[in-house]
Amino acid sequence: MKLSGGSARVAALMERMTLAEKLGQITMLADGLVETGPPGPHNPFTMIEEGRVGSLLNVWGPHLVREAQRKAVEESRLGVPLFFGLDVVHGHRSIHPVPLGEACAFDRELWEATARDSAIEAMADGVHMTFAPMIDVARDARWGRIVECAGEDPFVNAEFGRARVRGYQSRDARGRMRLAACAKHFCAYGAVLAGRDYAEADVSWRGLEEIYLPPFQAAVEEGVAAIMPAFTDVAGVAMTAHKRLLRDMLRARWRFDGLIVSDYHAVAELIDHGVAADLAEAAALALDAGVDIDMMGDAYALGLPQALARGLVSMAQVDAAVRRVLTFKEQFGLFEDPYRTMAQEPATALAPERRALSREAARRSIVLLENRDGFLPLAAPLRRLAVVGPLADAANDQLGPWASAGAGEEAVTILAALRETFAGAHVRHAPGCDFEARDEALLAQAREACAGADAVILCIGESRNMSGEATSRTRPEIPQAQLEIARIALESGAPVALALNCGRPLALPDWLAEGARAILACWHAGSEAGPALAEILSGVCDPSARLAISWPVNAGQSPIFYGVRPTGRPHDPANGWSTGFADAPFAPRWSFGQGLSYARFTRAPPQVDRTELGANDLLTLSVDVTNESAHEAAETLFLFSRDPVALVTRPLLELRDFAKIRLKAGETRAVRFVLRARDFSYLDEDRKPRLDAGVIQLHVGASARAVDLARIDVRIQP
Ligand code: NOJ
Repeated sequence: MKLSGGSARVAALMERMTLAEKLGQITMLADGLVETGPPGPHNPFTMIEEGRVGSLLNVWGPHLVREAQRKAVEESRLGVPLFFGLDVVHGHRSIHPVPLGEACAFDRELWEATARDSAIEAMADGVHMTFAPMIDVARDARWGRIVECAGEDPFVNAEFGRARVRGYQSRDARGRMRLAACAKHFCAYGAVLAGRDYAEADVSWRGLEEIYLPPFQAAVEEGVAAIMPAFTDVAGVAMTAHKRLLRDMLRARWRFDGLIVSDYHAVAELIDHGVAADLAEAAALALDAGVDIDMMGDAYALGLPQALARGLVSMAQVDAAVRRVLTFKEQFGLFEDPYRTMAQEPATALAPERRALSREAARRSIVLLENRDGFLPLAAPLRRLAVVGPLADAANDQLGPWASAGAGEEAVTILAALRETFAGAHVRHAPGCDFEARDEALLAQAREACAGADAVILCIGESRNMSGEATSRTRPEIPQAQLEIARIALESGAPVALALNCGRPLALPDWLAEGARAILACWHAGSEAGPALAEILSGVCDPSARLAISWPVNAGQSPIFYGVRPTGRPHDPANGWSTGFADAPFAPRWSFGQGLSYARFTRAPPQVDRTELGANDLLTLSVDVTNESAHEAAETLFLFSRDPVALVTRPLLELRDFAKIRLKAGETRAVRFVLRARDFSYLDEDRKPRLDAGVIQLHVGASARAVDLARIDVRIQP
C-alpha cells in the first residue's frame, strides 16, 4: 500500500479535524474479548463517539464490530470509520497448526492457503488487520514466542512471511484486499537475552542484515500493509524509537509506505526503557522514528500535545501519521463501506472445507522424529490401546496459543479420533496428571490403562499457555509430573509412541528419547489435530513434515541451530581443545530438516548445468529423487551453500532453497533449483556486498546433517 500521498477526501477531512481528533486516528485501543496485554484504564466505546480512537484491537464478531463501527460513523462528529485489528496468527475460527508447526510442512502453497482461509473467516467477523505474520528468526527454545515464527532459518522465515502476506492480503471476489497483514516484530526480537521475553537483544549490524532483517524485507517486497516494531531494544536502541531501522532502512531504503503500528503499550514503555523522561518524550521519539499508530497507550493522545508545545515534534509529523491512517482506511474501502467485510451473523460452525484444510495442514505439520523397527504405522489388529497423558483429550490445548476465536468445542481431540480410527480396539484413556501438577490417583489410572496394552500413545508436552508471549522457561522440557506418566508407560512393557504436543522444541531425557518406540512432534496442531495424528499413526497418511527448528539435547545447548559460523577450533570429539560442551553432545538431538516418512527415498548425486559462473549467471542444480516404496509419499529437499574462504567468516551452511515433491510408488523425478551467482555474495567488513572469485560448495539433501547431504562445487568467476 502507498499511504503517504493522501487523497482529496483525506485532505478535506484533515482540514476539519481538531488536534484531539487527529490524535484519535493514531490511537488504537483494546477492548476485551481477549486479553493480549495489560488492560488499560480506557473505555474505548465511549471514546469512539468523541473521535478519540481510530482503531480497535481484540474486538471481533459481526454484532460487536457493527455496533462499534456504527458509533464511529453515525455518532462521532466526523464519522470516520474505525478499523479493527486482531492477532489472527494460525487460523481464526478454524485453527491450523501453530506457525512453528506449519513451518515444518515446508510448503509455500499450504502456508498461503491457511492464511487465505484465516482471512476469509476473520473478515466475516469484521477484522481488517491481522498482527501477523510473525517472522522473528528464533533459535532459543527458552523463548516462548518461538512458537509464533517459522523456526531458526532466515530464508524459511522470509518464504513463510511472503506466503502469509499473499494469503492474508489475497483479493476477494470484488478484487478487494481481504485482510491487511502486519509483519512483526521488527526486528531481532528472537534474539532476546537468555530467551527471556521482552529482554534486550544485543545484535550486530551483520546479524541484523544477515539473519533478522531478510524476512521483513521479503514481507515488504510482497506488499505487506503494516509493520510492528518489537518491544525490545537492539544494541541499546529501543525498536519503537529506532530511526536508523524504521526510517532509514524500512522507509527510505526498502521504500515501505504502509503503516507502522507500535506494539501493545510500547510507546509509553520507552520511559521504562530509560530513553524518555515522560510521555511527551516517548511519543516524540516514536513519532519521529516513524511509528504511525500508538497501540494501547496514552502516549500519543496525552504526550503529543505536550511534545508539540515543547517543539519536540512538528504538526507536519503528526499530520503525516494521521494521513497514512486515513489513507489506509480509504484504500481498504472503509469510507465506501464501513461494514464491508462483515457477515450478518457469526458463523455457527466451522465450514467443512476449512476444517478439511486444517486437517491437511495438521497432517503435513506433524514430524515423525523416530520410528524404531518400523513400529509405526500401528499394525492391525490392535486389541488394547492405551491413550495416556494430559494432551490426549485436551480440545482447548491442542489449539495452542494465539487462537482467540478458536473454540475447543469445535476441535477433535486425539482420543476421540483414535477411538474412531481403532473402533475395533478397546481404547483406555487416562490423563495421568494436570500438566504440571502431580496427582497420585491420576497416575494410578494411567498405570492401569497401560497394563496389558498392545500399544501406548503417550500424549504429553505443553498446555496452550506454556508457550506464546511471556512464557519464557529456563527449562524447555516436559514437566516432571508428565515424565512420571512417561515412566509408567515405558515400564508397562507395552511399546510407546510418544506424541509431543508443544509450542517449542523440548529437551527430552535420554531414557525417554531412547525408550519410546516412536516419537512425533505434533506441536499444537489445531482444530483437527486428533484426526491428523490418527491418520499418521494408522498409516492412512504418510508423515511428510521436516523440522524447521533444531531440538536440543538439553536446554543448556540453547541457542542451537545449524547455520553457525566456523571456529578456529572446529568440533572434534577426539580433540579436547575443540569447541563443544564437556557435559553434553555438540549436535542437537534432532537437526533442522530431520523427519521420517513411511516411504523410502533415494537420491542420485546432484548435477549442475555449469560449474563456472559469471556474476550475472544463473545456475541450475538438479537431483533425481526416487520413491522406492510401494505407496505415494512426499520428500523434502534442502539446498545449502558454503563459502569456504571469504574475507569474513561465513556460516558452515546457508539455506538457499527447499522443495517438496510428491512421488508415486516407484517414481523418479528431478528436483530443480535455480540460483543466481549473486546469491553467493556476502557483506564484507564494511557491510558492503561482494562476490569473490573462488569455489562455492553446494550441499543438497534431506536435512542439515552432514550424513544427509551430497556436495557439488562450482566456481565463481565474477
Ligand atoms: C503484544 C504482542 O507482542 C504482539 O505480537 C501482539 O500483536 C499485540 N500484543 C496485540 O495483541
